[in-house]
Amino acid sequence: MSRSAHPAGPRHADVLPEGHYTAPPTDLNALDGKVWAATVTRNSDGVVTVGGIEVTRLAEEFGTPAYFLDETDFRARCRAWADAFGKDADVFYAGKAFLSRAIVRWLKEEGLNLDVCSGGELATALDAGMPAERIAFHGNNKSEREIRRAIEAGVGRIVLDSFQEIVRVAHIAQELGKRQKVQIRVTVGVEAHTHEFIATAHEDQKFGIALAGGQAAEAVRRALRLEGLELIGIHSHIGSQIFDMAGFEVSARRVVQLLAEVRDEHGVELPEIDLGGGLGIAYTSEDDPREPHEIAKALTEIVTRECESANLRTPRISVEPGRAIVGPTAFTLYEVGTVKPLEGLRTYVSVDGGMSDNIRTALYDAEYSVALVSRTSEAAPMLSRVVGKHCESGDIVVKDAFLPADVAPGDLIAVPATGAYCRSMASNYNHALRPPVVAVADGAARVIVRRETEEDLLRLDVG
Ligand SMILES: Cc1ncc(COP(=O)(O)O)c(C=O)c1O
Repeated sequence: MSRSAHPAGPRHADVLPEGHYTAPPTDLNALDGKVWAATVTRNSDGVVTVGGIEVTRLAEEFGTPAYFLDETDFRARCRAWADAFGKDADVFYAGKAFLSRAIVRWLKEEGLNLDVCSGGELATALDAGMPAERIAFHGNNKSEREIRRAIEAGVGRIVLDSFQEIVRVAHIAQELGKRQKVQIRVTVGVEAHTHEFIATAHEDQKFGIALAGGQAAEAVRRALRLEGLELIGIHSHIGSQIFDMAGFEVSARRVVQLLAEVRDEHGVELPEIDLGGGLGIAYTSEDDPREPHEIAKALTEIVTRECESANLRTPRISVEPGRAIVGPTAFTLYEVGTVKPLEGLRTYVSVDGGMSDNIRTALYDAEYSVALVSRTSEAAPMLSRVVGKHCESGDIVVKDAFLPADVAPGDLIAVPATGAYCRSMASNYNHALRPPVVAVADGAARVIVRRETEEDLLRLDVG
């Protein structure tokens, strides 16, 4: 949902400039439970706490910028997804959203499976003890070394993404004397983002094999012929930050149609269908994400109905939520360094991180919320742009949001819903040291990914 310019509110100018924002919130000290992790609250001193610990204490102990991850919330979300889909379906957490050894252990303990898409993610998963059969291996250009490692480890499935890969995986599996379970990733001609989906010929992308023109049917034909492969299903992933289930409906219908064609041509009913990830979360108060049980119900009904009408047995469904599990569970804590009012425009609030710890705003024009968390304030709302410390004018963390007009250097501000695709996409631009991830639960905080040091940077610089 796009936000519109709002023409009112106390600030430097009488009329607010055009921007992506709505009316200033009535209470800037309030924390909207939709965008903040479950245990985040403001205590009687006005300081925000997570897992019962004040952010001021966390900043002192761990420094800023830093990501604080609510372990209790993360585990609860894993359980909610696993319970919603039940024993007849599989939930694979998409590790690309954020992966570390601790995350892998929590997933394992909470009964989730794991989708990895690189040798590094696979290595982390195996190192932290995820049983290989609970791992799905993705990627549009897996190297031979990665494929070999995955097959040797015994991953539960490899998701094939091209005609070359079908042959490559079959060949390596045979060499290793194995028959590898695989799915074929198809592009269904649907692209879904947020509240819209576009049912166009969206085959113009690097992932998957198109259903259109019989490409996917040909891929199935080839995969069924190769001894090193056991084709167990079809995979489709249609987009990101999706709220509207209509895109999944079209996608499921098209995938089921392929299953019916495969049955008619080969006499084989493929037992699995994976509908990918992409379920949306609340980044701002205007986002209304669906609960896992609603998503599970909707997806199961769609697939069941489509299979009934195609006279097929309903396959086992799997899904791959990344953002929807980890996204809401973390916030990034920053210290304000400078505050620069631009008369008639907005106030630039510079923090000690930026695009190196959150590239999503620059990359996708993503929207975020922000709050003053080290104290409360009764000052008027001030249209603010939270920017980082990098040498790039596009170094924006929160494009348009309201902070109290007395926000000042030394204040702590926090950006919620940064659990997904922030640390995992973090960079060393300007030789920034990537921030730590600190897990907080029940009054205890511990580093699960430590802050980078200058020694870390220099260790790689061997010239
Ligand atoms: C194949 C696949 N599965 C799952 C995901 C996870 O998506 P999200 O984190 O939006 O749920 C992605 C994201 O790109 C993906 O490509």
